[in-house]
Amino acid sequence: MSSHKTFNLTLNVWRQKNEKAEGRFVTYEAKDISPDMSFLEMLDVVNEGLILKGEDPIAFDHDCREGICGACGIVVNGAAHGPRKATTACQLHMRSFKDGDQITMEPWRLTPFPVVKDLIVDRSAFDRIMAAGGFISVSTGSAPDGNALPIAKMNADLAMDAAACIGCGACAAACPNGSAMLFVSAKVSQLGLLPQGQPERYSRVLKMVAKMDSEGFGTCTNHGECEAACPKEIRLEFIARLNRDFLKASLMKRPEIQKGGSG
Ligand code: SF4
Ligand code: FES
Repeated sequence: MSSHKTFNLTLNVWRQKNEKAEGRFVTYEAKDISPDMSFLEMLDVVNEGLILKGEDPIAFDHDCREGICGACGIVVNGAAHGPRKATTACQLHMRSFKDGDQITMEPWRLTPFPVVKDLIVDRSAFDRIMAAGGFISVSTGSAPDGNALPIAKMNADLAMDAAACIGCGACAAACPNGSAMLFVSAKVSQLGLLPQGQPERYSRVLKMVAKMDSEGFGTCTNHGECEAACPKEIRLEFIARLNRDFLKASLMKRPEIQKGGSG
């Protein structure tokens, strides 16, 4: 049952005009906040107040507001996406806070994700990793019958688990090494577990890992912070799966794999 009692908060928000500008924390009072509001709705209310006063609203990224697009990454009180496990910032509700709380908000802090403005970062490094190998080659034609290609239940389930990754970047932002391994492992596994993903399985892992390195992401040393921060509960076992495929692909050293052909 919802409560109608509202409360007040103090927000410490990172404000930064653009990538090159120096940023700083600015304090705002958020008044009459309903516990039923989402975190982003609370920011909407604060922004309406700022606009009415003629001030620049706080820039934050969002799209679906239902945990599927991955746009809304914010560090809330030091935690990627905030204090609730398996919850994106857009699905975090103000009932997770109480009257008088101080809330600190920052963008992802990661060199490959430069700040665009305030809480918004440029996550196009992930798009470039995907473009390097996160696809399958398909012969277009009529759609095949859904049951024409048998897939073991365990593989189908694992592929679905990996496909839950929304590319939000929380894993890399939370990792002390700034590693994007959880994201890449989810994408590599999602395709590598299914028959359609086999032709490029080994070239894909080599290309995506190479792109991840060249974009400036760090190396995985098994801290596990990525798994803890992931709003979609992508598991570390996918990194182990990626490592196995990467090792196998590296040992094969077939020229067509190195060039990215069929593997
Ligand atoms: S693995 Fe999790 S934290 Fe990383 S991008 Fe995917 S959904 Fe976000
Ligand atoms: S706005 Fe789409 S996941 Fe949060």
